[in-house]
Amino acid sequence: MTVASELRQYPFEPFTGDIPDELIEMVETDPISRVILPDGREAWLVLDYASCCTALSDPRFSRIPLGNTRLPDAGGPRDLNMDGPPHASLRRVASRPFTARRMEYYRPRVQAIVDGLVDDMIAGGQPADLVSSLVAPLPLLVVCEVLGVPAEDRKRFYGWLAGLNSVLAYGSDDASTAQQELRAYLGEQLLAKRAQPGDDLLSAWSADQSTHQLTDTELIDLAMGVLVGGIEINSSATGLRALFQHPEQLAKLQADPSKAAATADEVLRYTTVSSLFRVQVVAEDLELGGVAMKAGDCLMALPWLGNRDPKFFPNPNVFDIDRVQPAPHLTFGFGPHFCLGSALGKMQVEMAIGTVVRRLPNIAPAIPLDELPWRHDRQNCGIASFPVVW
Ligand code: HEM
Repeated sequence: MTVASELRQYPFEPFTGDIPDELIEMVETDPISRVILPDGREAWLVLDYASCCTALSDPRFSRIPLGNTRLPDAGGPRDLNMDGPPHASLRRVASRPFTARRMEYYRPRVQAIVDGLVDDMIAGGQPADLVSSLVAPLPLLVVCEVLGVPAEDRKRFYGWLAGLNSVLAYGSDDASTAQQELRAYLGEQLLAKRAQPGDDLLSAWSADQSTHQLTDTELIDLAMGVLVGGIEINSSATGLRALFQHPEQLAKLQADPSKAAATADEVLRYTTVSSLFRVQVVAEDLELGGVAMKAGDCLMALPWLGNRDPKFFPNPNVFDIDRVQPAPHLTFGFGPHFCLGSALGKMQVEMAIGTVVRRLPNIAPAIPLDELPWRHDRQNCGIASFPVVW
């Protein structure tokens, strides 16, 4: 395999919802190439399904920069962003309350939240903005429910999380103030739950404390990880965009609402909310997909390009809600860091899209789809606003 000699800046173009044709072609023609990332670092760009899986699951690809001593025996607090056994032991604790049964328990609650938001959107009249009415508040309300944070605190949460997530604010005073305030708040909640346990994640973690021996600081880090992981779910918006782009698929879903779960899977496979993903570090000299890599090299494996690999998904660039998925899509990641909230995330996409198209059978975009504004101020991009009529 040859590696392109001239380094290109990645992303190749500002992301506005469609994966550039050039990248899709590269899945087959140049699945591993060298690029320059937005922060100036050179990296391997990994696009094919098999190599993405290896990069995300093989311990020789690390998420900790070489030379960094942020390991448990170095005395620092543990969080999910670690490698190997230290991550696995923390994840065992974190995942205890994320059982399949527990997730099913959330179904009626998530549906009630979706219904309430859609009621308010309809009452507000048309055109309405799907993002501010439904797509943005839904994951926030769900995560508050899961963590046991009172819903009346959600406005403060918006502010903190916007500060945390903003690329522009990253490392700024605003970002660190937001982080401090959020941590202090979660600390108060933890104490409150310990005194009066509820039916939620913070209560479950703190009740287990004698068995897992995580400190309060570590539990707050876990809660931060769940918040950051669960708060930005833009796939309901990109999914509705894809359905509007493919009216025959929208018609199939409207004719048979039981296809909502399959639609969510296809939406997650086919649509993308960002062009960037986690940057990893090669821990030792190795070969991936026939390409030699050196210890210390940076690498970014893009799951949504893996999702377009024809070796794993026949006609991968066709959006088909009836698709039989022969392999799991990679949108929730792969391997030890596979999304802890995948069931909850998929549930939200399924219910948001399913409810909107069922309750508003004539729903349509109020502006041409190629004029939808995309936001680029965060690590996750996404549709900034989505005016619709019905
Ligand atoms: C459609 C919605 C979602 C998508 C597309 C998504 C995607 C992902 C991906 C790709 C990863 C792996 C990242 C990596 O390898 O570094 C991940 C990890 C994670 N996600 Fe999600 N996520 C979603 C919803 C949620 C929700 C609702 C929650 C929590 C309530 C959540 C919590 C987490 C956590 C805690 C991790 C870290 C797991 C670990 O490092 O062991 N996610 N998510």
